[in-house]
Amino acid sequence: TFPKRVKIVEVGARDGLQNEKNFVSTSTKIKLIDMLSEAGLPVIEATSFVSPKWVPQMADNAEVLKGIQKFPGINYPVLTPNIKGFQAAVAAGAKEVSVFAAASELFTKRNVNCSIDASLQRSDEILRAARAAAIPVRGYVSCVLGCPYEGKISPAKVAEVTKKMYSMGCYEISLGDTIGVGTPGIMKDMLSAVMHEVPVAALAVHCHDTYGQALANTLMALQMGVSVVDSSVAGLGGCPYAQGASGNLATEDLVYMLSGLGIHTGVNLQKLLEAGTFICQALNRKTSSKVAQATCKL
Ligand code: HMG
Ligand code: MG
Repeated sequence: TFPKRVKIVEVGARDGLQNEKNFVSTSTKIKLIDMLSEAGLPVIEATSFVSPKWVPQMADNAEVLKGIQKFPGINYPVLTPNIKGFQAAVAAGAKEVSVFAAASELFTKRNVNCSIDASLQRSDEILRAARAAAIPVRGYVSCVLGCPYEGKISPAKVAEVTKKMYSMGCYEISLGDTIGVGTPGIMKDMLSAVMHEVPVAALAVHCHDTYGQALANTLMALQMGVSVVDSSVAGLGGCPYAQGASGNLATEDLVYMLSGLGIHTGVNLQKLLEAGTFICQALNRKTSSKVAQATCKL
C-alpha cells in the first residue's frame, strides 16, 4: 500500500544548479526558488554552503538565501559540509541545514576530501551546534545503489552509515542513488536493510535518472512505505564529483505520477511547469521532464 500523502523535497536549485558550468545569476536562482514556492513545494533546498573553490556555482549562497521570499510553512534547508559552512548558513538566516555522507570511501574522498568516518565526525559537529541552536538537520547518504569509483555498494554498508546519521540526530535521512544506476530490485534490497536499523518514517529517497530508473525506483520505495521523495524541477542536476551522473527525478513527473495514484502532495503542477520552463529558458536547455515535454492532454 502507498502512503496517503508524500512530502516532496525540491532539490533543483541546489543539486540541479551545482553542476552547471556557466554561472547562473543570483537573481535567476532567486526567481526560480520563488516560483517553486508559488507552486506549493513544502521543502525547497535553496543552496549549499560548501567551499567555493570546490563548487563555484554555489558561491552566492548567502545572497540567494537572503534574497528569496520565505513563504510561511515552507522550509528552505541548505547543504553544509562542515562547521564553517554551518556557521555561514546560520549567519545568512538558515533555519534548517542538511549534512551529507556516503556509503563509499572513494566517493567520500572525491566529494569532501576525507574518509567516511571523518565526514561523519564533521556531521556530528554540525549536529551538536545545530541542537544548541534548535536547528533541524536532515542527512544524506550518497551512493546507496552504486558508486562511480567502487561499483557495487552493499546494503549493509548503507544501513550502517544511515543508522549512524540517525543516531547522531538527523530527523530524516535521504538515500541517494547519486549516479542513477540502481534498479527497483536493488532499491528493495537496500531499503529492506536500512529499514531494519532506521524507522521508515525517517527515510527519504533521492534518485538520479541517469539510466531512466528514477521513477521506477521511487515507486518501489513508496510501496515499501517511504513517504518523502527528493526531486528536481525539469530534472536538473548531477554531482560534480560523480562524472556522467545526470539529473534527478523530474519533480513534474513525480507530481504527475502521485496525482494519478491519488496521493496528496499539495503541489500545483501548472505552476511547477512554469518554474521548469523559466529555468530551462534561463539555462538555454531542453527540459528533462517527460511531463513538461508531453503535448497530449487527457
Ligand atoms: P578541503 O579542500 O579538504 O578543505 O575541502 P579545506 O578546509 O582545506 O578548505 C579548502 C578551502 O575552502 C579553504 O579556503 C577553506 O577556508 C574553504 P582557503 O584557505 O584555501 O582560502 N572552505 C570553505 N569555504 C566556504 N564554505 C565552507 C568551506 N569549507 C572550507 N563550508 C570541503 C573540504 C568539504 C570544504 C570541500 O570538499 C567541499 O566543499 N566539498 C563539497 C562538494 C560538494 O558540494 N558536492 C556536491 C554536494 S553532495 C551531492 O550532490 C550529493 C547529494 O545530492 C545526494 C546524492 O545525490 O547522492 C546530496
Ligand atoms: Mg543528488
